[in-house]
Amino acid sequence: MTQLTAVSGTGSRPIVSLTDVTKTYTLGKVQVPALRGLSLEVYPGEFISIAGPSGSGKTTALNLIGCVDTASAGVVMVDGQDTKKLTERQLTDLRLHTIGFIFQSFNLVSVLSVYQNVEFPLLLQRKLSASERQQRVMTLLEQVGLDKHAKHRPNELSGGQRQRVAVARALVTRPKLVLADEPTANLDSVTGQNIIDLMKELNRKEGTTFIFSTHDTKVMNHANAVVRLADGKILDRITPAEAQRAMGAEAH
Ligand SMILES: Nc1ncnc2c1ncn2[C@@H]1O[C@H](COP(=O)(O)OP(=O)(O)O)[C@@H](O)[C@H]1O
Ligand SMILES: [Mg+2]
Repeated sequence: MTQLTAVSGTGSRPIVSLTDVTKTYTLGKVQVPALRGLSLEVYPGEFISIAGPSGSGKTTALNLIGCVDTASAGVVMVDGQDTKKLTERQLTDLRLHTIGFIFQSFNLVSVLSVYQNVEFPLLLQRKLSASERQQRVMTLLEQVGLDKHAKHRPNELSGGQRQRVAVARALVTRPKLVLADEPTANLDSVTGQNIIDLMKELNRKEGTTFIFSTHDTKVMNHANAVVRLADGKILDRITPAEAQRAMGAEAH
């Protein structure tokens, strides 16, 4: 299996490294292979897009990197740690302090307000004072254009607004690594562009590493590399321009 190494790696160690990772789901008596020997390295500061048709394994790969699911075989390293060797407590700490996850299904807490949803990880972290928390939460809500909706409940918001709450919640702890599963899929193009701009700005200013899945070639264009998946394997690792050409060709 060839190891796909980042061009922009500067000799630092990868923040994410998958080696021969497989994931098989069991559905009753049926085994569904979702990942079939995935190897990938992502270096700090990269802005990586994972592309591939529906069912190719994008969500599964992000779930493994985000430590919300475990591989059937292979090694998943995150921030220098072999996730298989960590205790539940250590995995919780990794998710809370190192990783921000923007799930496709948002995963917002329906009984909490927008403000409380975004504040939640900060309360768990117990690092900031009440006033620092308030400032951080309001800054994020402004950045995603939802400061006026701080008191609303998720069910009072549109899909796009909920997505923006999920983005604010993932970024509020300033994680080193942000995973986003089709972050713009439910957004109109202007809102989607705002979300990508916000991600890019954090990437540039704070060196935050982003790994996001998308179908949208416009969104892919912002990545420094596009990793294409097909049938649970990596097809190739190419530039956004190459991806645009390849996907344009496929559409014809
Ligand atoms: N919880 C699950 N149980 C059974 N099969 C699953 C589950 N999640 C995903 N799969 C299967 O794994 C494969 C990869 O799915 P997924 O990672 O969701 O792909 P993508 O995000 O690229 O659409 C698909 O064949 C899908 O049907
Ligand atoms: Mg998916």
